[in-house]
Amino acid sequence: MSRVPVALSEGRDYEIHIAAGSLATLGQHCAATTHSSRAVILTQPSIARHWETGAAQSLERAGFQVTSIHFPVGERYKNLTTITRLYDALYQLTPALDRKTLIVALGGGVVGDMAGYVAATYLRGLDYVQVPTTLLAMVDSSVGGKTGVDFREGKNLIGAFHQPRCVVIDPTLLQTLPRREIRSGLAEVVKYGVIQDPVLLAKLREQARLLLRGDADAIAAIVERSCQLKAEVVTADEREETGLRAILNFGHTIGHALESATKYRRYKHGEAVAIGMLSAALIGEQVGVTPSELTQELRATLLALGLPTALPDDVSDETLIALTARDKKAEAGEARFILAKQMGQVELMIVPTMLVRAGLEKHRKGFD
Ligand SMILES: NC(=O)c1ccc[n+]([C@@H]2O[C@H](COP(=O)([O-])OP(=O)(O)OC[C@H]3O[C@@H](n4cnc5c(N)ncnc54)[C@H](O)[C@@H]3O)[C@@H](O)[C@H]2O)c1
Ligand SMILES: [Zn+2]
Repeated sequence: MSRVPVALSEGRDYEIHIAAGSLATLGQHCAATTHSSRAVILTQPSIARHWETGAAQSLERAGFQVTSIHFPVGERYKNLTTITRLYDALYQLTPALDRKTLIVALGGGVVGDMAGYVAATYLRGLDYVQVPTTLLAMVDSSVGGKTGVDFREGKNLIGAFHQPRCVVIDPTLLQTLPRREIRSGLAEVVKYGVIQDPVLLAKLREQARLLLRGDADAIAAIVERSCQLKAEVVTADEREETGLRAILNFGHTIGHALESATKYRRYKHGEAVAIGMLSAALIGEQVGVTPSELTQELRATLLALGLPTALPDDVSDETLIALTARDKKAEAGEARFILAKQMGQVELMIVPTMLVRAGLEKHRKGFD
């Protein structure tokens, strides 16, 4: 069992528990970090089928009265309509919920972001815990307290910062996760490599086969390292005020634009981020901060992990550029990008549209 602390002030600090089989200890962790005796599991049917009983039994053993609510699968349901349905379902529970109720987010990033938002807002805020079931959620979205939903074309435009009481990561839950989702999660790990840890990036390339096969030890090790790296950033800039936390958005400016342009249907989040990271590297080359060797190393890593690298023909550069102006990092309509100066070191910069266009053109032409 490894524990990664997330150090925050005013009693908001918490721990990430990582261990094979830790789903069975969920109840203990919840009992130790909250004053609740009632837990509501929010999850999706495809996850509930495999893992809900284990989660519920562990909570019951620790003395919780447990209820579950299921909601539909897919990024396109990550919106306020689904949130309203969840509020309705909570409202109809008897006896009525009080503010001591604990929300348990059992799922990937979509479940975690929405359950977290429900917890942040229902009855002005309930405790919640994250039990991530996708690799992406284990290495990224379950840690750091960003919750929310998409709104119109904007990804995660509505939301709140609300930290979980703890995060319980059981890598064996990945046994039922499709391979494509594993690859998608690995894209966020590549991101940590570029922004913070060149050693991790090299390890990803070396262990690509093991990781893609779902090797439990290899996966547990990169989950732990990713959580440490994310915790470091969150501790330093919890609410994205100093600009430091924004480094986690490397590859996400174009990545989010791609997801939005294709209506969240074509790409997994990590796939769009993989393509977006390559665009960011090529844009960085145009700005004159990113060395071309870095771009090549990034591309080689993405290819080794079976991630997509090409921009789609049916989404134009102008569409992508227009969507980046809506990005949350944009200021006064000017797109800001996280650009890599060297492996492990990035910076937030305003990039003139002309250079964004030039980077995207180079990306489309292939760049060997
Ligand atoms: N809050 C943050 O800091 C943050 C960070 C990164 C990403 N995100 C968000 O995360 C979301 C993407 O999350 P995701 O990639 O986990 O996708 P997801 O939550 O949609 O899960 C992917 C699919 O896998 C299924 N699934 C999940 N776990 C399973 C399991 N163990 N076995 C079988 N099926 C399983 C889900 O039902 C779903 O169909 C995006 O909305 C993104 O914005 C948030
Ligand atoms: Zn992401």
